[in-house]
Amino acid sequence: PRVAVVFGGRNSEHAVSIMGAGSVLEAIDRSKYDVVPVGIAQDGRWVIASDMQRFAIEDGVLPAVVDSGAEVALRAGDASLVVSEPGAVPAVLGQVDVVFPVMHGPFAEDGTIQGLLEMAGVRYVGSGVLASAVGMDKAYMKLVLAAAGLPIGKYVVIRERDWRVDRARVLKEIEDLGWPVFVKPSRAGSSQGISKAHDLAELEAAVEAARLHDPKVLVEAAIVGREVECAVLESLDDAPAAASVPGEVLVADGHTFFDFAAKYYPNEMSLTVPADIPAEVAEELRGLAVRAFEALGCEGLSRVDFFYTPEGQLVLNEINTMPGFTSLSVAPQLWGATGLPYAELVDRLIELALR
Ligand code: DAL
Ligand code: MG
Repeated sequence: PRVAVVFGGRNSEHAVSIMGAGSVLEAIDRSKYDVVPVGIAQDGRWVIASDMQRFAIEDGVLPAVVDSGAEVALRAGDASLVVSEPGAVPAVLGQVDVVFPVMHGPFAEDGTIQGLLEMAGVRYVGSGVLASAVGMDKAYMKLVLAAAGLPIGKYVVIRERDWRVDRARVLKEIEDLGWPVFVKPSRAGSSQGISKAHDLAELEAAVEAARLHDPKVLVEAAIVGREVECAVLESLDDAPAAASVPGEVLVADGHTFFDFAAKYYPNEMSLTVPADIPAEVAEELRGLAVRAFEALGCEGLSRVDFFYTPEGQLVLNEINTMPGFTSLSVAPQLWGATGLPYAELVDRLIELALR
C-alpha cells in the first residue's frame, strides 16, 4: 500500500509534527509500504518533502517544512496525489491508500484535515472528524468527558464576546475557582499559549496571551497532583480499545509546569514507566482512559492525561487524539513498555486505518 506521511501544518505545533514524522519515516516498513513524505508549509501549501528537510531540533532551532517546489494536492474522489513543479504541467503521482497525518493542533488534529480526507475518499490514521474536533477544543472536550461521568476539574470558559462585554461576571466566576489557575487557549496544544496565574493582574495578561492562539480561552483551577499519562489503542479485532501501562511525567527544575520546553528540549523531562502508583489506582486509571477514548469516539491512538492527587483522587486533565509521536514521546514509550515497540505501533496504526 502507498502511505502518505503528512507533517508540518499551519499552526503553532508545526515543528512538533515534523519531529514526529521524522520518527515515523525512519520506523515505517519500506518493504511493506510505499512511502510518500508530504510536508504542509506554514502558509498551508502541501509539498513533497525536500531532501533538505530537517526533522529534529538542532542547536535549539526548531525544524520547519522546507519547500521542495513540488506542490502536491489530493484529487478528490480517487485519492490521487497530483504533483506540480513551478512552470510544469501537473502530474498524477498516483493513488494514496492511506494518509498518516502526523500532525497536531488546529488544521491538523481538529477534524479539518480529517474532513478533507473524507471528502477526497482516502483512509487515514487516527480519529475521525468529530472525535478530532472535540479532542482539540478543550471546552467541548470537558462537556463530553463530564457527560460520560469522568472525573474532571473545575473550569470556566471565556468566550470572545464575554471577555469584551461581560468581563466582570467572568472574572467573578474565575475568582470562585480559587487561585492559582491555568489559562489555556481552548484550541491549541503542546502547552502553547498556556500560563499559570496567581491573581487578577496575572490573569488578564494570561488571557491575552492565550487569546493570541484562540479567541476562546479556558481557565482551570490548578490541580495539585502527580502527572500520570496513559495511552489507548484501538484493537484490530472486535475487542475493546486497550490501555497501556501508565507513566508518570517528571519535569526538570525551572519549569512551573509541563511547558513546551519541558516537552521537547532534551533532558527537560523524564518519564517513569510504569508509574509508581498503587496497582488498583493504575487499573482505575486505565479504565478511565479507555472510557474517555470511547466517550469521544476516538479511533487509532490517543493519550489520556491525569493528575493523581495526594488525597488519592484521579482527575482527568485531557485527551489528545494525535499525541506527540516521536519515538521518544510519551505515548510511544508507554506502548513500548506495554510490549508494542515503536515500529510495530506505527504498523498497527496503518493497519487499523486500512481495515
Ligand atoms: N499536542 C501534543 C503533541 C501532545 O499532546 O502530545
Ligand atoms: Mg492536548
